[in-house]
Amino acid sequence: MASRRSNQRGSASPKREPASSSSRERRPEASPIYATKNDLPESTRREVIELLNARLADCIDLESQAKQAHWNVKGPSFIALHELFDDIHEAVDGYADLIAERLVQLGGIAEGTVGVVAQRTTLVDYPLVLSKGSEHVAALSDALAEFGRVVRLGIEEMNDLKDADSADVLTEISRGIDKWLWFVEAHQQGA
Ligand SMILES: [Fe+2]
Repeated sequence: MASRRSNQRGSASPKREPASSSSRERRPEASPIYATKNDLPESTRREVIELLNARLADCIDLESQAKQAHWNVKGPSFIALHELFDDIHEAVDGYADLIAERLVQLGGIAEGTVGVVAQRTTLVDYPLVLSKGSEHVAALSDALAEFGRVVRLGIEEMNDLKDADSADVLTEISRGIDKWLWFVEAHQQGA
């Protein structure tokens, strides 16, 4: 989507579609589903797999954004932010693994290639020219907050689909994202 990739930052709240409908529209192609003795109904598994693949794309995008911040941050808080952003990258990499492996357990195919992620992510693209710590704090906290929002929405979706385990996976991730958002935002809140 052109608007999403144009590095527009600063609008109060970027337009976001509900995860369920947007992920369906952006789905490059329907993937097969594997047979499993898991007793969740196939119709449920199909919906959960699709929703989790949508969040997987966002999660992998967020992971790369944290690394982008880690590499490029400069200024007096360099070492603290450089290390914090790498910690976030590592944690978010773990969240991607949780999402991907949950949907594979349900018979799905984890769709986590760079090409699919670029097409499907709902996050605003990370600006390339940021350098100051405050700029990276603003940009990465935006991304964390947005991912946190869609993951929280995902918990509700999983509850509606009666998949308590996927809801639990997303709850764990949501809890972690809220913590990282705190760690990043704390750099702004003392001023
Ligand atoms: Fe590094």
